[in-house]
Amino acid sequence: MAELAWWQRGAIYQIYPRSFADSNGDGIGDLRGIVAHLDHLSALAVEAIWLSPFFRSPMADFGYDVSDPCDVDPIFGTLEDFDHLVAECHAAGIRVVIDWVPNHTSDRHPWFEASRSSRDDPKRDWYVWRDGDGPPNDWTSQFRAVGPAWTFDETTGQWYLHSFMREQPDLNWDNPEVEAAMHDVIRFWMDRGVDGLRLDAIHKIAKDPLMRDHVGAPRRHDEDWETIHERLRGIRRVVDEYDDRMIVGEVALQDLHRIVLYLESGDQLHLAHNFVFVELPWEADAFGTSIEDFEALADRTAWPAWFLENHDLPRLASRFGPAAARAAAVMLYALRGTPFVYQGQELGLPDAHIPPDRVVDVDGRDPVRTPMPWEPGAGGGFSDGEPWLPVDDSTTVRAQAQDPRSSLTLFRRLAALRRELPALRNGSQRRIDAAPGVLAWVRDERVLAAVNFAGEPRPLELRGKVLVSSDPDRAGGDGLGPYEAVIAALDG
Ligand code: GLC
Ligand code: CA
Repeated sequence: MAELAWWQRGAIYQIYPRSFADSNGDGIGDLRGIVAHLDHLSALAVEAIWLSPFFRSPMADFGYDVSDPCDVDPIFGTLEDFDHLVAECHAAGIRVVIDWVPNHTSDRHPWFEASRSSRDDPKRDWYVWRDGDGPPNDWTSQFRAVGPAWTFDETTGQWYLHSFMREQPDLNWDNPEVEAAMHDVIRFWMDRGVDGLRLDAIHKIAKDPLMRDHVGAPRRHDEDWETIHERLRGIRRVVDEYDDRMIVGEVALQDLHRIVLYLESGDQLHLAHNFVFVELPWEADAFGTSIEDFEALADRTAWPAWFLENHDLPRLASRFGPAAARAAAVMLYALRGTPFVYQGQELGLPDAHIPPDRVVDVDGRDPVRTPMPWEPGAGGGFSDGEPWLPVDDSTTVRAQAQDPRSSLTLFRRLAALRRELPALRNGSQRRIDAAPGVLAWVRDERVLAAVNFAGEPRPLELRGKVLVSSDPDRAGGDGLGPYEAVIAALDG
């Protein structure tokens, strides 16, 4: 078996810095808070962390509206704090992946302030400006509450494009100066020792230059245009100026073919977040087919990545129930490919309840962004101050760490097992027949993994020792309990 790259070996753990740990009592998580909790990440044996944005930002979209992509927002700390975090992570054997937001900037970025100042400004064409008595076409923001993807700017009497909030004007990637400037942002962070990038909304950086309407067209015109592949190759060339770095794209497309096209041939993305997988219903056949389809399409050209939670999507425990969330964890770690875990997923957190007067996000994502509950108590060990979103301390890292039956213990066991067993990391993968509602596969013909998607017991012939079960009350013997998933060694 070929040696795996670091980004293929184990889980990549997503940190939402605002909500991970607050070191100075202002109620908002920060970089020093992360360093203070590296022991948690080591105990989870994570291969890398991916940090959601900590750059300078007016925080309209909580950091995804970047006003200076080459500096740390004072709320999160300083560049020195970032260097310290990278050094501490590396000392602990943890790689650092950061978010790179290429599709748009904040409306307070100096580039946009220049661009909007006059039609003749040299930066005018760095963003997308059009004339019109109304919005120039029928494109809408990804955020339902925002409506049209265009805002009229009085100063110069034109409309600018924003695929997200109006505070997030889209950059014009058809302008080579923009591409070059964004490449320099990559170099800035790679020079500081960053190991990889998560490319935010990457399918959005290539749009129909004719800006045609969606209506009546067979496909969307505001994303995933053919130019994406040249642009990905350009990004990859920059990343390949450095050793052993990785790029993972947020490829939010509902078409496996298109996703795989972003990965192919070794000169585009290393990994893609698969948004077909994340939308599947909790059914064995849906997952089984989707996994097989990906494997068939990607064949030898691409390495899979599997994720089921992030800072934008409802949590598994609320979508499918707590038992299914645990079974899904077994699936993520036992599939061929890189598992992504979002902070709090290891605790099996559900979507939090947010009282109406505490709602802050434009797109309803507060319930999945509440602070990490570290310890019992008012601030949940997250903060000594008033947390920016409510903390629920009904379950905590401390309590789960001491509980052999907890979700956290399960995640630690899964991570350890993946380190122990080469078959789980890079063994071949073959689906095998199983009872209705059960998805089962073998890795390297040595290890069996099976997930019962049904809420009733199902038969399963276990030809060996169960190494881990999602069900702490597993009775033993053959078969799977309701929503139970297991990994077992195969005899012989
Ligand atoms: C991505 C991020 C999301 C953000 C959006 C705009 O989808 O995951 O949180 O709001 O891009 O940057
Ligand atoms: Ca803080």
